[in-house]
Amino acid sequence: MKKINHKLMSSNFTRDDFKTLENFFKKANENTILTQGPKVLEFEKKWSKWLGVKYSTFLNSGSSANLISLKILKIISKKKDEVIVPTHTWVSDIASIIQVGLKPVFVDMDFFHLGPMNDQIISKINNKTAAVFLSHIQGFNALSTKLYNILKKKKIPLIEDVCESHGAKFKNKKLGSFGLMSNFSFYYAHHMSTIEGGMISTDSKKIYELSRILRSHGMVREIKDKSLQKYYFKKYKDLSEKFIFLYDAFNMRNNEVGAILGINQLKNLDKNNKIRSRNLDYFLKNIDGSKYLNTFRTKGSSNYAFPLIIKKKSLNFRKKLEDTLNKLNIEFRRGGAGGGNQLRQPYLKKYMKGYKKKNFKNVDHMHFFGYYIGNFPKLKKEKIFQICQVLNKI
Ligand SMILES: Cc1ncc(COP(=O)(O)O)c(C=O)c1O
Repeated sequence: MKKINHKLMSSNFTRDDFKTLENFFKKANENTILTQGPKVLEFEKKWSKWLGVKYSTFLNSGSSANLISLKILKIISKKKDEVIVPTHTWVSDIASIIQVGLKPVFVDMDFFHLGPMNDQIISKINNKTAAVFLSHIQGFNALSTKLYNILKKKKIPLIEDVCESHGAKFKNKKLGSFGLMSNFSFYYAHHMSTIEGGMISTDSKKIYELSRILRSHGMVREIKDKSLQKYYFKKYKDLSEKFIFLYDAFNMRNNEVGAILGINQLKNLDKNNKIRSRNLDYFLKNIDGSKYLNTFRTKGSSNYAFPLIIKKKSLNFRKKLEDTLNKLNIEFRRGGAGGGNQLRQPYLKKYMKGYKKKNFKNVDHMHFFGYYIGNFPKLKKEKIFQICQVLNKI
């Protein structure tokens, strides 16, 4: 068999990005700011406009966005301490809940969109629910009208993890504009990149100010609203105005280089997302639906990677599939987002009391029989067709 050589991911950076950096450095002198500065603010403004929200805070990773949003939740949620979270998600979605001293409540995966089952979320809401932390996985929208309305009615905050789904839509509006806060990642080969990077976006001025404070050591001087700054200066008269640390916080700032790349990458995001969606449709049209799942909710999606999920629980089929992928040099990951069922990971062992693995059948299927392979704007139709043909022959 001739090798297909298909990579899992492909860099988003182009010559144009590097030229933009070159121009910046050509004009730079010893006074040029490289740490967080005016370019970061410009990127945050442009990102907010693109997303359709009022405020954004640029950070050093999507995981930092997860941790800061959960720290904010801890500050605002008073006595409520449960956070409903998917089992098919990235490690930092669950770790951040534990790290701020809240309690994760787990939900199984829905094969329609690979995010959490919305009815299970609804069934787990109670008077201790501080928030629903919902991940939109691999470009699919995981939010239903029913869940959205219930959360609104019960005034339960929604935090959206959109790290894998930039530009995907629900009700014709971009994901990340529904929650009280939403988190994005700009890591290598995500829909766009800033080398490392993340963003928290929100319509709430209070959340925005908190995210700025927490990003920079908990410092009052990071607050945009001058009257609020003055309030704290007066309150803590024994402290130097430049060194008032309101919370036990972090340094999760990004820098001017990341922001310059972000501004430039943003220009191509919508165009690239269209190609990602076209590629997904082509994969789904050509993949054998009797062997692999092809019934995802593609409406409004903005595909991150192609989800290749074996329908039958057959270890024999799985072995043949992995052998074929390896032989043809088609890179893959087993388990979907974050390696599948987070409940099977060692870091969660001591939080598993009362949980029955059999209640998480879908995510377990994903764990053992679900994969993803690369889909990126540079991928050509002919290659997708070739890949589907060999997969269908197994
Ligand atoms: C769903 C999800 N959330 C969060 C993250 C974390 O982002 P980062 O790698 O920028 O920390 C990822 C990483 O890819 C992710 O897939």
